Amino acid sequence: MQACDVPLLRRFWYCVAPSEKITDKPYGFTLLNEPIALWRDDTGAVRAVKDRCLHRTAKLSLGYVENGNIVCPYHGWAFSGSGQCVKVPQDVEDKPNPFGVPGYHCTEKYNHVWVALEDPIFGIPEIEEFGQPGYRQVIEFCETWSANPLRIIENSFDAAHITFVHKESFGDPDPTIHPFSVDETENGFIVQNDIKVKNAEHMKSALGMEDDETRRRTRNRFYLPFSRVGRICYPNGLENILCTFLAPMDNQRTQFIQWVMRNDSEEDTPAEKVIAFDRQVTIEDRDILASTDLNVPLDRSEGVELHMSSDRPGVLMRKQLRRLIETADAETAA
Ligand code: FES
Ligand SMILES: [Fe+2]
Repeated sequence: MQACDVPLLRRFWYCVAPSEKITDKPYGFTLLNEPIALWRDDTGAVRAVKDRCLHRTAKLSLGYVENGNIVCPYHGWAFSGSGQCVKVPQDVEDKPNPFGVPGYHCTEKYNHVWVALEDPIFGIPEIEEFGQPGYRQVIEFCETWSANPLRIIENSFDAAHITFVHKESFGDPDPTIHPFSVDETENGFIVQNDIKVKNAEHMKSALGMEDDETRRRTRNRFYLPFSRVGRICYPNGLENILCTFLAPMDNQRTQFIQWVMRNDSEEDTPAEKVIAFDRQVTIEDRDILASTDLNVPLDRSEGVELHMSSDRPGVLMRKQLRRLIETADAETAA
């Protein structure tokens, strides 16, 4: 499975950028091989259309915004937020025309901009703590990774890699897998476990703990196709909720967006320390994931990978995705 080869994946919301990046200056992004132009219109709403002008294919994202519309830099044709061509400056009669570029679903949530290329099957994942008193958001990363998004999200449910990939950060040297539960939901599943982790000297301050090791209780929720909200609770009462959202750009590149919700304050732990902790951990993941195959077999016809018992969440992801694709194929055939 490579994301751009699965039309069904056009029917999900993807987190494409922190809100602050989308202004009245157009912004270009590639989602599932589709070039999109984003901007903020004159009401402040975010908009997304295909980044390819109807006239001679120039990139609208290289243009500018005027009266809330995006204007092509080549000959000045203007398009509304829905993609309708609203102005052809060379047309002296200035009459309405029936032409337009495709417009996409676009909205804002959690201080980020989300796009769905076609009618989404599920809503944007719920993060109950967002906006609740006592919780803050620390925005961490928006960057490009060279890996299949399914491998990246599978990795965040993979307890077995921690000892090896994260030995410099929080990985406990004991590779024994602790028991964990997996409960399916309508759009993914929830994994819960309780594990021992190392509390490395240089990372202690991000957890507000002096102990050399600690336990962490995790409730990690997977949302199809490539998202997770993972609540980690520490013995000192700290809750650190990792919110990771992947957007497949093409079959080689995935945009990795992550922020955390925490129930401590900036005075307790400055955001830069929270980010530094996760920076080390995510670089460790990113580097090993870049060495993996860009294809992920959803079934044996696509290739064979051996599994072990700790791979249960990743195997379930593949199964859930396969089921969705089969259902969509059956609906198309009917
Ligand atoms: S290519 Fe866009 S107006 Fe000509
Ligand atoms: Fe990891």
